[in-house]
Amino acid sequence: LFARECTFMLGCVAMKQLPEPILPEVAFAGRSNVGKSSLINALTGRKTLARTSNTPGRTREINFFEFEGRLRLIDMPGYGYAKVPKPMVDGWTQLIHDYLRGRAVLRRLCLLIDSRHGVKSSDEQIMDLLDKAAVNFRVVLTKADKPKSGEVQKIVAATIEALKKHPAAVPQPLVTSSEKGLGIQELRAELAGFAEP
Ligand code: GTP
Ligand code: MG
Repeated sequence: LFARECTFMLGCVAMKQLPEPILPEVAFAGRSNVGKSSLINALTGRKTLARTSNTPGRTREINFFEFEGRLRLIDMPGYGYAKVPKPMVDGWTQLIHDYLRGRAVLRRLCLLIDSRHGVKSSDEQIMDLLDKAAVNFRVVLTKADKPKSGEVQKIVAATIEALKKHPAAVPQPLVTSSEKGLGIQELRAELAGFAEP
C-alpha cells in the first residue's frame, strides 16, 4: 500500500464538507505540534504532502489524503494549545468531536503523544471520547529522537498504565520518530491491514 502514491483530497472545516464515507479511514489526532502532519509525510514518503510548522496550530482543517481506492489518511488540527484565536480552536474541537463520534468508516485513530511529555489531561479527554464512540485507537509516541532512551522507556511504561482504563485502546503504544524513521515501517504494516484489498 505505502509503495503507492498518496494524494491530497480536500480539507474540511464543517461536517457537511466531509467526503462520502466510501473508503476505510485512519485518522491522526493529538495536541498541537506533536507531529501529526510530519508522521503522515514520513508514512507516505512525501516530505511536503501535509504542511508542517514549528508554530502550534499549523493544520486548521480536517485534511483527507487518499491511496486511491484503498485507504484514506486523515490529518486533524491539534488540540490543547495553539497560537490561533480561541473561537477558531473551539470550532476545530467541535468538528473533531463530531467527526470522531459519527464516522462509520473510521477504522483506527492514531493518538499522537510527545515522547518527552507523555499523556496530558487533554489527551485523557480525547481518550474518554474515543471510548464512548467506540473508536479503536493506538497511542503513537512521537519525536523519540529527542529524549534519552531511558526516558522514552519511562514514558512508555506510564502510557501503558494510563491506557489500562481505556477499553478502546490498543494496550501497547508505538514509539516513533518521523525524523529518524523509527517505527514507521511497523506503523505502515499495521495501517495497510485496514485498507481495501
Ligand atoms: P499542528 O498541525 O499545529 O497541530 O501540528 P502537528 O502535530 O501536525 O505537528 P507538525 O508535524 O507540524 O510538527 C511540529 C514540529 O515538530 C515541526 O517543527 C516538526 O519538524 C517537528 N517534528 C515532527 N516530528 C518530529 C520528529 O520525529 N522528531 C523531531 N525532532 N521533530 C519532529
Ligand atoms: Mg499538522
